Amino acid sequence: MSIDLNPVRGTRDFPPEQMRLRTWLFGHFRATAAQFGFEEYDAPVLESEALYIRKAGEEITGQLYGFEDKGGRRVALRPEMTPSLARIILQKGGGLALPVRWYSIPQCWRYERMTRGRKREHFQWNMDIVGVPGVGAEAELLGAITTFLGRLGLTSADVGIKVSSRKVLQAVLTETLGVPADKFTAVCVLVDKLEKLPREAIETELAELGLQGSLVDSIIETLSLRSLVDLAALLSDEHEAVTELRELFALAEAYGYADWLVFDASVVRGLAYYTGTVFEAFDRGATLRAICGGGRYDRLLSTFGGADAPACGFGFGDVVILELLKDKGLLPTLSSAVDDVVFAWSEDLRPAAIQVATRLRAAGRSVDLILERKKPKWAFKHADRAGAHRMIMVAPTEWEAGMVSVKDLATGEQSNVAVEELT
Ligand code: HAM
Repeated sequence: MSIDLNPVRGTRDFPPEQMRLRTWLFGHFRATAAQFGFEEYDAPVLESEALYIRKAGEEITGQLYGFEDKGGRRVALRPEMTPSLARIILQKGGGLALPVRWYSIPQCWRYERMTRGRKREHFQWNMDIVGVPGVGAEAELLGAITTFLGRLGLTSADVGIKVSSRKVLQAVLTETLGVPADKFTAVCVLVDKLEKLPREAIETELAELGLQGSLVDSIIETLSLRSLVDLAALLSDEHEAVTELRELFALAEAYGYADWLVFDASVVRGLAYYTGTVFEAFDRGATLRAICGGGRYDRLLSTFGGADAPACGFGFGDVVILELLKDKGLLPTLSSAVDDVVFAWSEDLRPAAIQVATRLRAAGRSVDLILERKKPKWAFKHADRAGAHRMIMVAPTEWEAGMVSVKDLATGEQSNVAVEELT
């Protein structure tokens, strides 16, 4: 029997040429997180399934890779990192001095219908601040996102970030239209599907929640708001939803990234736990799926049986951003990081070549020592393919004089160098 050599549908292999790109991208995730004073954490990819059972009709729940382990426990491959983060925060309890700023780059698993930019596994850079109730936390996170995008060579002409607050829809639905507060989350999850489902399906789902189908019109009207002035006119100048968003946009001015932001009430996000600010970065060319998304979730911890703490954060996948960079011609050409290739001219010089390689490695250089008997022509071709900087040949006459032959592969210059002077 021959097996299928492709990775499981929706998953990716990372042979070195792909891995280089991933490492490069993660390097920017990490460097940005460090610029903003975040500390890295991690958690197991396998979690208790109960962590993701939220009964709000979220897409993510239906896409769960859940199964029973050999001990009869229901477990799941994490579809996102936020529940694991909440679990760790609760587990640390009072011993943890808040606020914390933590980041992680977990691989997440979702049984998605595949489209461009959506796979069944992806790596998702997460940055979260726990313990800060004000929109200052959101402003800091948006600062990290725009800094990261800027590092990659993208500008606010390429990417925008839609910002809104769940409090906008909440004000209209619960304060004005009398939708019971306990139905609000389910309505948000449903609203997120507005563009994907036909109107009748939305109306049916509203009816299942015990709500009038005609709510759709008020919802669509609210979602069409695109300016804070109009929002203030609808709610009132002092409404919490208005003042918070205004403050956030003012902070964005102070940071200097306001040109990336747009207020857009159509953003509600499809996850149940958000309670306030929500945001999503999008490609201004409008060809790709959401680049990243996040928001405030002040009441997630109590759904796990603990005491709540104010929290907000975002998840930023590795798939869409690479598509965007490819489209914009911003992907770097990366070669392997080999500094030197060391080659023994003949078998009796192998110990000498090993000495040279060992000396170079101890000095911190990356060395590819050719391990088999090969012709010089092969060695040069190999060094070229490896993208090495220097080819170092250990040949009889030079070695007797304490020298090796060094070729600079960029300039083609060749000279004899004393072994002590190699580093
Ligand atoms: P999310 O919107 O479900 O949020 O995912 C965040 C980002 O992960 C998306 O914008 C996208 O970049 C990437 N992503 C999600 N699913 C896929 C997929 N199937 N293939 C490729 N990329 C994908 C969350 O997961 C929240 N937990 C984020 C968060 C953190 N909120 C607060 N803290």
